[in-house]
Amino acid sequence: MISRRTVVKALGLAGAAAVSPARSENQAIHRRPIPSSGETIPVIGLGTSRTFNVEPNSERMAPLLAVVETFFEQGGTLIDSSPMYGRAEAVSGELVARARQADGVFAATKVWTDGAAAGVEQMDRSFRLMGVDVMDLMQIHNLRDWRAHMKTLRAWKESGKIRYIGITTSRASQYEAFAAVMRSEPLDFVQLNYSMGEREAEEVLLPLAADKGISTLINRPYMRGVLFSRVKDKPIPGWAGEIGVNSWGQFFLKFILAHPAVTCIIPATSKVHHMRDNMAGGYGAIPDPGLRRRMLAYVNA
Ligand SMILES: NC(=O)c1ccc[n+]([C@@H]2O[C@H](COP(=O)([O-])OP(=O)(O)OC[C@H]3O[C@@H](n4cnc5c(N)ncnc54)[C@H](OP(=O)(O)O)[C@@H]3O)[C@@H](O)[C@H]2O)c1
Repeated sequence: MISRRTVVKALGLAGAAAVSPARSENQAIHRRPIPSSGETIPVIGLGTSRTFNVEPNSERMAPLLAVVETFFEQGGTLIDSSPMYGRAEAVSGELVARARQADGVFAATKVWTDGAAAGVEQMDRSFRLMGVDVMDLMQIHNLRDWRAHMKTLRAWKESGKIRYIGITTSRASQYEAFAAVMRSEPLDFVQLNYSMGEREAEEVLLPLAADKGISTLINRPYMRGVLFSRVKDKPIPGWAGEIGVNSWGQFFLKFILAHPAVTCIIPATSKVHHMRDNMAGGYGAIPDPGLRRRMLAYVNA
């Protein structure tokens, strides 16, 4: 699955967050570099929590296949899963195989158990379920027994079984412990929650990731959908059209992308029209700092 890799010259973060992209840039999804390698990935990925936890081979697979096909058509590659998400790893593997896109996938999952031996067993199962020989990114879910798993991850990265190592969190109460691991361990990726409604990562985690050259995956970009209910009585402001935004989904995603430490956002969806909407957030102009402040003031007003 790792046979085709597009490794292009690394873009600087400032360059990736340009305000006025040339016309041609509007026709391809933005990509940002993984600092530890220089490889670039598209700025919108796909989460699988809850949405992909369905019975494989059931009638619920057909709409999800359309979601995954749309994701690939629009330039997506990174799919994030976890053994914590029920059947999501198996469903991801099955959908990617059906979409015949195995070559273009950046497969990310997590280890979420206690003890090194159980971790090895669980990760081996994830490889099988997701249908990969090499896992692009293996993350320690919510730091669970991270010391035990980190040794395995280092050895597997060394042997080529995984390409990148990461840790994840999605709650501010864990940030202090999370930052300590970021400071003490060499990591390729961190995955954390960040959105217009949850901005605590701006304080330490995002600047630390930028300082240490760690890629960031952003989870809960819509706070599991709660953000949409917060703006349900507000129209999308006319000035959002300046950056090509015509939905709240794109508004929320472009706000996140305008943070210079952000590499890739991983919204989850079970619907094709939301998938299209989410991918559109990765195209075209990215807000400059002034517009970003205006977006925040408008949503919070
Ligand atoms: N600790 C961790 O490691 C951790 C924690 C949380 C999340 N994650 C990862 O991050 C991913 C994303 O987070 P999340 O799934 O919790 O929440 P999320 O992506 O913030 O929100 C998902 C919800 O938003 C809706 N949605 C998606 N696109 C939309 C659009 N364009 N317009 C309107 N509604 C839209 C979806 O419903 P529809 O199905 O109706 O579109 C779904 O209910 C997860 O799936 C998982 O892969 C990791």
